[in-house]
Amino acid sequence: MHDTDIPAFQSALLKWFRAHAREMPWRANKDPYRIWVSEIMLQQTQVNTVRPYFERFIRSFPTVTALAEAPLDTVLKHWEGLGYYSRARNLHKGAQQVVSQFGGQMPRTPDEIRRISGIGPYSAGAILSIAFDVPEPAVDGNVIRVFTRLDAQGDDVSKTPVVKALTTRVRSTIPAAAGDFNQALMELGALVCRPDNPLCGACPVQAFCSAYAQGKPEQYPVKGKRTPVKEMPLWVAL
Ligand code: ADE
Repeated sequence: MHDTDIPAFQSALLKWFRAHAREMPWRANKDPYRIWVSEIMLQQTQVNTVRPYFERFIRSFPTVTALAEAPLDTVLKHWEGLGYYSRARNLHKGAQQVVSQFGGQMPRTPDEIRRISGIGPYSAGAILSIAFDVPEPAVDGNVIRVFTRLDAQGDDVSKTPVVKALTTRVRSTIPAAAGDFNQALMELGALVCRPDNPLCGACPVQAFCSAYAQGKPEQYPVKGKRTPVKEMPLWVAL
């Protein structure tokens, strides 16, 4: 994708998302607490698995204060079956931090929100953009795949500086509707720009995609390219 294409790219992607967004219980409103809970659950778990857990969790702990005041055992009980229980422990601890350090209000800046237990760069960007339209990127595997394809970016995404550069690139494309845009990227990655057999024929941003133009979208992203170990006779090494 060329830089001059960015406004048209944003419009095409947002239009598609607004027409095709799947209904999800955490999309019912923009309560940052609910979005936080959903993003933590969705980190290692699929959307359809998360749905009933999310509904039950919010029914039992409808506010950040309710979660902060609940016994940890009760919170963990609600997580049973989702796995990665450190997520639940951090969420509980984080709720107590929001109450004690932020007066029960979810902070609205990247620096502040990152001080909360369990909120890393991805969750921070997702929560801030979806709840408050703060123009922060939320770069996960889906977004890495979408952008490496758009730009036919062949650098190894298992390298930290490559992901950092990609994050800067994503940041430069975020419109005012940051929340819808970030969710559109996640949704595009999940439904259309899939790892194998991407549905390029149904892609709203096909016209902006360099990998599609090259005819080889599946070749991106490049991961863990190993430099082959050179075999040589011992006498050469000596
Ligand atoms: N995966 C992680 N966060 C998501 C969201 N808000 N919508 C859809 N899929 C997601």
